[in-house]
Amino acid sequence: MSTLLDENTTHTLRAGAFGHARSLACRECGHEVALGPSYACPECFGPLEVAYDFPAVTREQIAAGPRNIWRYKALLPVPDDIEQSPNTEPGFTRLLRADNLARELGLEKLWVKDDSTNPTNSFKDRVVACALSAARELDAKVFACPSTGNLANAVAAAGARAGIPTVVFIPSNLETPKKVNSAVFTEKLVAVEGNYDDVNKLASEIAGEEEGWAFVNVNVRPFYAEGSKTLGYEIAEQLGWRLPDQIVIPVASGSQLTKVDKAFRELIALGLVEDKPYKVFGAQATGCSPVSVAYKAETDAIRPVKPDTIAKSLAIGNPADGIYVLDVCRRTGGAVEDVSDDEVRDAIVLLARTEGIFTETAGGTTVGVLRKLVETGQLDASLETVVINTGHGLKTLDSVSDRVGPAATIAPSYDAFVASGVL
Ligand SMILES: Cc1ncc(COP(=O)(O)O)c(C=O)c1O
Ligand SMILES: [Zn+2]
Repeated sequence: MSTLLDENTTHTLRAGAFGHARSLACRECGHEVALGPSYACPECFGPLEVAYDFPAVTREQIAAGPRNIWRYKALLPVPDDIEQSPNTEPGFTRLLRADNLARELGLEKLWVKDDSTNPTNSFKDRVVACALSAARELDAKVFACPSTGNLANAVAAAGARAGIPTVVFIPSNLETPKKVNSAVFTEKLVAVEGNYDDVNKLASEIAGEEEGWAFVNVNVRPFYAEGSKTLGYEIAEQLGWRLPDQIVIPVASGSQLTKVDKAFRELIALGLVEDKPYKVFGAQATGCSPVSVAYKAETDAIRPVKPDTIAKSLAIGNPADGIYVLDVCRRTGGAVEDVSDDEVRDAIVLLARTEGIFTETAGGTTVGVLRKLVETGQLDASLETVVINTGHGLKTLDSVSDRVGPAATIAPSYDAFVASGVL
């Protein structure tokens, strides 16, 4: 039995190991358990999440912090000396005003939060940085994850920098750049013949058998998930300590979407931003859209699916946080929508040609859904909107390589250029 999984293990935590976090609280029944390697409620098996006794935090304190996610360390389950430990230092990515794309889509005011510039080119570096801190404090010997690709890249890189052995598990049919992007950092990349849900099941089994493994999104998931809040904090800070009216976020497990909502609510509660309504929209690819299907059917019953889409990073057929995504989107007046693979490809090229941002298929899904939400009137085009780009297009090059290319192949002469008709 894994020490990290065994809730009876009395691991001595150093003081302040999890910052201002108070406990792990059940998202279903509210039952609280002590901070540690627990992820399921002992009362009802619901998922646990980190609960805090926040100190007073000012905008000035945050602004004086480093230009990475640790500027928000008072709001994360990390120790006060977190900057001393080697990490990949993700975050503080750019928030770009996207006037060209806005014009194209008929929106008044649009921003792209571009998380493709994180250390391993996806937002997953944020969650991994928090999971790594928890793994360290819990004395884990191995850092591991089941992944749809991006998380594997982030875990492998962070483990390398921290000097902790990593083992990452991916579906064997992932895009080559994502495989290489993990294999370059760890010799223990395991390709599993199956889809993500099979890989996840295997990881849970291993976590139950092996001693001292920290599976970032399994047995230290509550700490991992908190890293996603930083995306929400940054958007508010970069807007001049304001919340946007609407935000569109991709959904795989659904963790990121629910944590951006948690971040916004925390900022309001702490008085760091003004209380105002905001709408959260979820984006899925039609070939793996269990949450969107449930949203449209107006049910809470999310039926697992077998994914079939080019958006492989979003290909989780049985999303752990799906039910909470429905809750956030309904509560805030948003929606969950999905787009076809062709619409994903179109949106990748649209974002590239309007804003000079090359996104991966997850971002194509998100921009495609943004477009569809405007067209169907589900999103108010007059309100300030943020769309999140969670990963870099070089990771999923093949998805658009047959759509774009040289306009002509010519001899190196002026005449040949004129004859090509490109001008
Ligand atoms: C690029 C990208 N965007 C979005 C997501 C969705 O994240 P979540 O599982 O938190 O919903 C993933 C998940 O792997 C991803 O790789
Ligand atoms: Zn419970």
